[in-house]
Amino acid sequence: MKYIILALCLLSVVLARTRVTSPFAHPKIDVEKIKALHTDIVEDTVDMKIDHFNANGQSDTYPMRYLVNAKHYQKGGPIFFYAGNEGNVYTFYNNTGFMVNTLAEEYKALVVFAEHRYFGESLPFGDKSFETENLKYLNVEQTMTDYVEFIRGFRKESGLDQTPVIVFGGSYGGMLASWLRMKFPETFQGAIASSAPIIYFKDAVPEDGFYNVIQDVFTHNHPECSENIKKVAELIVSFKNQPEKIRYLQSMYNTCQAIETADDVDKITGFLYNAWIYMAMTNYPYPTEFLAPMPGNPVDVSCEPFDLTASKPKITSLLKKDSLFSDDELVLLQAAADSVQVFYNYTGELACNDLSGSETPNLDAFGWDILACNEMAMPMGTDGKDNMFLPESFSYEAHTKQCEERFGITPQFDFALTFFGGRNPTFDFATTSNIVFANGNIDPWNAGSITIPVSKDTVTINIENSAHHLELRDPNPLDPQSVVDARNVEREQITKWLAQFREIVESS
Ligand SMILES: *[C@@H]1O[C@H](CO)[C@@H](O)[C@H](O)[C@H]1NC(C)=O
Ligand SMILES: *[C@@H]1O[C@H](CO)[C@@H](O)[C@H](O)[C@H]1NC(C)=O
Repeated sequence: MKYIILALCLLSVVLARTRVTSPFAHPKIDVEKIKALHTDIVEDTVDMKIDHFNANGQSDTYPMRYLVNAKHYQKGGPIFFYAGNEGNVYTFYNNTGFMVNTLAEEYKALVVFAEHRYFGESLPFGDKSFETENLKYLNVEQTMTDYVEFIRGFRKESGLDQTPVIVFGGSYGGMLASWLRMKFPETFQGAIASSAPIIYFKDAVPEDGFYNVIQDVFTHNHPECSENIKKVAELIVSFKNQPEKIRYLQSMYNTCQAIETADDVDKITGFLYNAWIYMAMTNYPYPTEFLAPMPGNPVDVSCEPFDLTASKPKITSLLKKDSLFSDDELVLLQAAADSVQVFYNYTGELACNDLSGSETPNLDAFGWDILACNEMAMPMGTDGKDNMFLPESFSYEAHTKQCEERFGITPQFDFALTFFGGRNPTFDFATTSNIVFANGNIDPWNAGSITIPVSKDTVTINIENSAHHLELRDPNPLDPQSVVDARNVEREQITKWLAQFREIVESS
């Protein structure tokens, strides 16, 4: 952390002198000065319109945070831009090493990360940002326009007008990356869109695709694991009208809150499934700290407690004394508790499980919930017949009601596919160019991503044994060969796009 704080102080010294004070002005960016700081990363903000689409062109501004890494940059190198997604920008910076370190060095690129509005410190209305009347500026088209304006100003102020920009993103950031290339090809010369579920929307893909991939992941190495997960979830739900059993869930799952009602029981199963879902997404082959600190292959580790013959989980003496549950039930309940520790408490530092808090320690779930209530409303549900999940159908009416009650927002279920296309991907994206759609075949999000070739100028790669945007992470000796190969495909494409841009510049 120290080096970042140091870098920040240095940058404000450099930029303070050149800062222009008129609204919408982009700070002067002196790449050579940044480079001379010999620091990996510098942070600053740019004044960005809160409302890009106000008919009279007037809008207040907010400070949008961005990061620049000029460590490997050399004159003539490209800009590699990360389209920030739903969290603190450093979360993505820290977990996109293939771009930040490997590719930046190979291409002598200037690395730039922008923070998504309403996340991290990029709050349009400060601590009032999440008040109902202020939520209307949190949407995809305002965010994309932030990034276009940002790049335009950045190129201008840094004297890099004719520098190609490749946009990167993983997950929702990958959705933004692909859409930015589709809509603004003059600004973004190519896009690496990793694990980007751009078609997980109404009527385009089966609602249960996500859950079925997780089922496969939790069955693959431990056939009994998904079965026992289903069993324990059904067992817990069966306590709903037995208050004396419900009360034990608090000590069994070490919750900060009292567990007393049938609703609380649903919170417990939600809490458990949340861990299993996120472990499937981030089932990386080595220890990581992306959504939470976790060991390598977290799914395997979290399945171990469910191997009930090999390792009988230790039953806490408190529960053992009680005859409310059979031994088999206790073993199963305890196995689930041990299993989710891998996600929530791998460091062993958690005092209790806070069921009211964020689902993922490193992402701001609140802002995402708002996006999921307007333009990113993804219909996800399952009848639970073919997978380890309890039946939970997606109801357009119920989701709408929830969003209206919670945020005063009505979901636009058709927005994404109408605005960007995707109902018929091979038709809609036939003329789309310069995008790599990269998917992991053990990533639940591949169910709503572009996994087939859609045009002659885009490339689709489906990466064996890869979880959620694994290939964007720092290369690691434990990466499967498929990930190494996928990175090479991305290199080939970037090289091609950069050459193409040079030709365009020379002939225009
Ligand atoms: C990013 O990494 C730095 C250095 O390892 C660390 O100090 C910081 O807490 C990380 N930030 C986030 C948001 O993960
Ligand atoms: C987290 O792990 C530590 C060490 O194993 C344990 O003492 C603590 O109770 C755990 N916290 C929760 C919430 O389970």
